[in-house]
Amino acid sequence: MNLLEHVQEVRNSLQADLVQVRLDLQSIEELRLKYSGKKGIIPALFQEFGSLAPELKRDVGKQLNELKREAEEAVQQLEARLLESQKQSEEFDPTLPGMLFNRGHLHPVTQTMNRICEIFRGMGFGIEFGPEVETDFNNFRALNFPDNHPARDMQDTFFIEDEILLRTHTSPVQIRTMMKRKPPIRILAPGRVYRNEAINPRSYCVFHQVEGLYVDEGVTFAEMKATIEIFVKKFYGENVNSRFRPSFFPFTEPSAEVDISCIICGGRGCRLCKQTGWLEIMGCGMVDPNVFIACGIDPEKYTGYAFGMGPDRIAMLKYGIHDIRLLFEGDIRFLKQF
Ligand code: DAH
Repeated sequence: MNLLEHVQEVRNSLQADLVQVRLDLQSIEELRLKYSGKKGIIPALFQEFGSLAPELKRDVGKQLNELKREAEEAVQQLEARLLESQKQSEEFDPTLPGMLFNRGHLHPVTQTMNRICEIFRGMGFGIEFGPEVETDFNNFRALNFPDNHPARDMQDTFFIEDEILLRTHTSPVQIRTMMKRKPPIRILAPGRVYRNEAINPRSYCVFHQVEGLYVDEGVTFAEMKATIEIFVKKFYGENVNSRFRPSFFPFTEPSAEVDISCIICGGRGCRLCKQTGWLEIMGCGMVDPNVFIACGIDPEKYTGYAFGMGPDRIAMLKYGIHDIRLLFEGDIRFLKQF
């Protein structure tokens, strides 16, 4: 190995040592002695350099001087770092109070859904969940939306593949439950749903629903009405009234929409209820026999009712939130108010 190569090798070994060296006085001093001390590697290289042929001296000399400077600077830097870290540990005061962490809490929509579930649990309903990616069969066909039926246009759908989509409502959980269990069935299904709608303060591409289903022998519309009226009183307060208006859904017959007396004006008429005195809160109806047939349940033997509501709107009414997008953006400054 000639001297030039030797210098390069020492440089490499210096870099390797620098990565490993411990940050204490003794280790730094050992490193200094190894390279720059009187009996160290670099002075020995200079000694060899002295006996080098003059025509080689220029190149090697330059490299050697650089190596010498690198070694000295490295030691200085290590000493500076050591001093800095000693200073910091002197400044560390273990009696200071710890860092404060933000405490999380449940999202206002989750709080609303939990309260709804709690009330229906008290009336014997169990909780069921279904996937957000659904089949066309569960989301539409089994719910009595025939192919190409105009009722499908009421729910603008995000398709993933031909027969696979993001569920547009929580009603497919009805289908899943009736396919795997025989009546009596009494369930509530909260969850997220998706619709390909224009995004504005009143509608968003994702929102929440809570679905209810009760199937048994001899279930009547009157029972449904009583159950929903009890829910309204428990959720909104004893002084809030409800009314049922005829409506249409493919999966219920007859169908109704439920209004409650306006929670702001008490029914006298205000901006929130558009001067009508009423606010719409859910759809409901008696399960259509076609839905039972799709799930293998005998419509001659069983009847049932179903309902669906939107907890986002309920939470917005409760907290006076005017833009639904706030519920989905995850902005801490908004969320920490609830
Ligand atoms: N799935 C309906 C919707 O998204 C809501 C609904 C209405 C659900 C009536 C029901 C029902 O179970 O009976 O618009």
